[in-house]
Amino acid sequence: MSEMNAEGRSRLDQMPEWTALSKHREQLGEVHLRELFAKDPDRARRFTLQVGDLHLDYSKHLVTDETLRLLRELAAATGVAELRDAMFRGEKINITENRSVLHTALRAPGSAVITSDGVNVVPAVQHVLTKMATFADRVRSGDWKGYTGRRIKTVVNIGIGGSDLGPAMAYEALRAYTHRDMQFRFVSNVDGADLHEAVRDLDPAETLFVIASKTFTTIETITNATSARSWLLSGLGAAGEEAVAKHFVALSTNAEKVAEFGIDTVNMFEFWDWVGGRYSYDSAIGLSLMIAIGPERFREMLAGFHLVDEHFQSAPPEENVPLLLGLLGIWYGNFWDAQSHAVLPYSHYLSKFTAYLQQLDMESNGKSVDRQGNPVAWQTGPVVWGTPGTNGQHAYYQLLHQGTKVIPADLIGFARPVDDLRSGLVAQHDLLMANLFAQGQALAFGKTPDEVRAEGVAEELVPHRTFRGNHPTSTLLASELTPSVLGQLIALYEHKVFVQGAVWNIDSFDQWGVELGKVLARRVEPALTEGAEVPGLDASTAGLVAKYRELRGR
Ligand code: F6P
Repeated sequence: MSEMNAEGRSRLDQMPEWTALSKHREQLGEVHLRELFAKDPDRARRFTLQVGDLHLDYSKHLVTDETLRLLRELAAATGVAELRDAMFRGEKINITENRSVLHTALRAPGSAVITSDGVNVVPAVQHVLTKMATFADRVRSGDWKGYTGRRIKTVVNIGIGGSDLGPAMAYEALRAYTHRDMQFRFVSNVDGADLHEAVRDLDPAETLFVIASKTFTTIETITNATSARSWLLSGLGAAGEEAVAKHFVALSTNAEKVAEFGIDTVNMFEFWDWVGGRYSYDSAIGLSLMIAIGPERFREMLAGFHLVDEHFQSAPPEENVPLLLGLLGIWYGNFWDAQSHAVLPYSHYLSKFTAYLQQLDMESNGKSVDRQGNPVAWQTGPVVWGTPGTNGQHAYYQLLHQGTKVIPADLIGFARPVDDLRSGLVAQHDLLMANLFAQGQALAFGKTPDEVRAEGVAEELVPHRTFRGNHPTSTLLASELTPSVLGQLIALYEHKVFVQGAVWNIDSFDQWGVELGKVLARRVEPALTEGAEVPGLDASTAGLVAKYRELRGR
């Protein structure tokens, strides 16, 4: 690989800013957070930032002022700000698909002008939002009737990946704001069990299916939608399109395929190829969510996204929260050999938050060639994982505290429980948050052998009861998990992922890595069902297919 790529950009790991960071890392050696805090009594105050309602404490990171300065220099040298501005301007920064990346236009004010291919996309965004709001209000009020004249009681969203994880995550997150007389279910897996369990206790006359698929060709979604249509028509004893029109709507960029499936395009809510699947839940893909929380709350959520978009564009580097979080990830992944990143929300409502971030981060930055197609010689996106606290504390936190791996973590919490939970449960919330703060403290500062001895622990047990500490965490604190705060959080992570992709010089907006498995599944399926010969099938897979057929008695 040449030192200079086609865009005239040096190889990342040969840039002076990168080398300076490597050297700095060596100099820091085995620096301990205890030491960093002892040296600078003002550290906790200085290493905090605010964006909107989000308060970030990043003092428990293995960084000094010098580290942060060098990281910002790396960002400047790799053109993060220039790529950011190009994205917001609608330039085609998704180079392998030759597309603009304009999820930020989905939450821009109606007066904004944002162009892709010379066309201002904002009026179309606003038009679809209005159409969604009218429809959502009709379903919520019971004005929209099913085929037999009954009101809709359950909405079943069928989609996968970005067409499922976003609305499903946000529905859970904002459950306290949802229409409690309605039910919302999310079906994604091609395993028929998913759909079966979602509909088995439902009355088709009161069920609305929202078929969410950007391409409208995704096999899982089309298969589930086809099964849902048969379930509906046989349950209603109806044949034909009139029933489908009352019980199926589509969210897609592909009107032709929607019509081919049998959904009237009048009942289609459109979005555009400049919205990536994993960046799409604030587009028409959020329709199920909008029905659940209502158009007004949905708009509040969009405003939260927009607030962080503006901050990302305009805050100076020293105060730019997504920039900082992205750079901290680079610090650990590229200079501390961290392989993974834990996201640990102390809110049960955020139970699907980390699963959502897995797609956002890992599908975006799980790349091994740079934007020009050269293999990268540096680590890219981390494995993102985690579940809500306090459950994880009684499972895998042991490894976080006393294992051998470097795992930076985000601890996310809220000062107040949402309205529904206020009465009587405030003490419970304090206990939840005490756990969050205690974990951050224990991870950072641990417990020294002398502290263990001072508790009278037998000498042979001292090593087992010692906590090395020095595990870096960010703490994100907001007053309450509102729709706006959720939008702020998601935009924060979107832009963090962006920053990392920009520094690593990879295309964060394509996802070619998911294609091969899809193609092979289609090729292998006839071997399972009909015993068809699959040319070129490897011996291991052929053996497994034969065993499968034997077990199925075929
Ligand atoms: O499998 C990957 C993927 O292409 C995701 O990027 C996308 O969110 C998901 O499939 C669903 O795609 P669609 O919305 O087109 O059905």
